[in-house]
Order: sequence, then C-alpha cells, then structure tokens
Amino acid sequence: MAKRVLVVETSPRVRGNSNRMAEEFARGAREAGNDVDVISLAGRKVSFCTGCWGCKDSHRCVIHDDADEIVQRIRHSDVVAFATPIYYYEMCGQMKVLLDRANALYFAPDNRFRDVYLLTTAESEKPDAADNAINVLRGWISCFEQARLAGSLLIGGTTTDGSIEGRPELEECAKLGRAV
Ligand SMILES: Cc1cc2nc3c(=O)[nH]c(=O)nc-3n(C[C@H](O)[C@H](O)[C@H](O)COP(=O)(O)O)c2cc1C
Repeated sequence: MAKRVLVVETSPRVRGNSNRMAEEFARGAREAGNDVDVISLAGRKVSFCTGCWGCKDSHRCVIHDDADEIVQRIRHSDVVAFATPIYYYEMCGQMKVLLDRANALYFAPDNRFRDVYLLTTAESEKPDAADNAINVLRGWISCFEQARLAGSLLIGGTTTDGSIEGRPELEECAKLGRAV
C-alpha cells in the first residue's frame, strides 16, 4: 500500500548537498509508488520553541509559523526523512529547532509517523561524522513509542554546492527511498 512520505530539507542552501540526498530519497520513494512531499526549511519562518507548554492539551503549537504547519504534516505522515548538513558535528540548528517545535506531537494521541530516516552531508570523510546528529534524532524518536530510526546515510567529503554530484551514494539514497 502506498505510504505518505514527507521529506524535510533543513539546509539553508537550496541547491545544497543534503537537499540532493533528499531529492534522491524522494525519487526512490515515488518510484516505489508512494505519495511523497518534499519541504525545504530554506526561507521558511521557524521560530524557537519558547517552552510554554501551550501545546500540551491542544496538540498544536501556539506559534502559528511555518514550523507549526510542517509539524502537523509530520504527524500525519507514515514516513519522515530529514536531510541535514553536519554543522559542528551535529545536525544543523534549523533541524534541531524544528524537532523542538514538534513538542506538540509528544502529547498527540494520533501520531502516524513510524519510520524516520536521517540523510546527512559533511565535509569530513570520517564515517562517524554524523554520529552526534543520529544520537540526537534517536533521542527525539525515543519520545514516540510508534516510531523508529529506519535508516541513515552520510555522504562525507562534500563542500560547495554541487560537490555531491556523481557520488555513487546518491543511488543509495534512492534505494533507501524505494524501500520505505
Ligand atoms: C556552520 C558550518 C559548520 C560546519 N561544520 C562541519 C563539521 O563540524 N564537520 C564537517 O565535516 N563539516 C562541517 N561543515 C560542512 C558541511 O557539513 C558540508 O559542506 C555539507 O556538505 C553542507 O551541506 P549542504 O550543502 O546541504 O548545506 C560545516 C559547514 C558550515 C556552514
């Protein structure tokens, strides 16, 4: 059965490397017959969580910006893939702020998302360059009993826009997407 797949690009660079991973993941998921949407945080309004707990009963954030809308789309998707550049051996701040803003889902009784993927790019060629980001995402996922980290992929040695082109791991992204 077709799944509802949401791919969230969190890099501020519209033509950046992690967005290319996101595109390939989305391509694979579409090829497999799923219903796929790609959202970029670039140019979107994503305010910080204020820790007000206003979301506790309403399951909606009190700040009605783009993050509020994206979080509700996460809630109603079967599969969510986050793509992020590694910044200081972590996920980028934009992605972390989005995860914080998803606090409303912590209280929601009807979260649909189950399989969560993480797609990362880094300048470093070290295989553990994304480990901190993976751990933070695991921490977030652990707050949702129906959810699991279904897969992650790092493409290191990527710097300027376009430096990811021709990398064979892009096909791995499409493969991950095809298997959702
Ligand atoms: C603020 C900043 C911090 C970064 N920190 C790291 C880092 O800690 N380790 C690393 O390997 N690359 C680091 N990079 C490089 C990016 O992860 C890399 O260029 C990546 O491919 C960018 O992805 P994007 O094009 O999707 O934004 C950093 C880049 C920026 C702008």
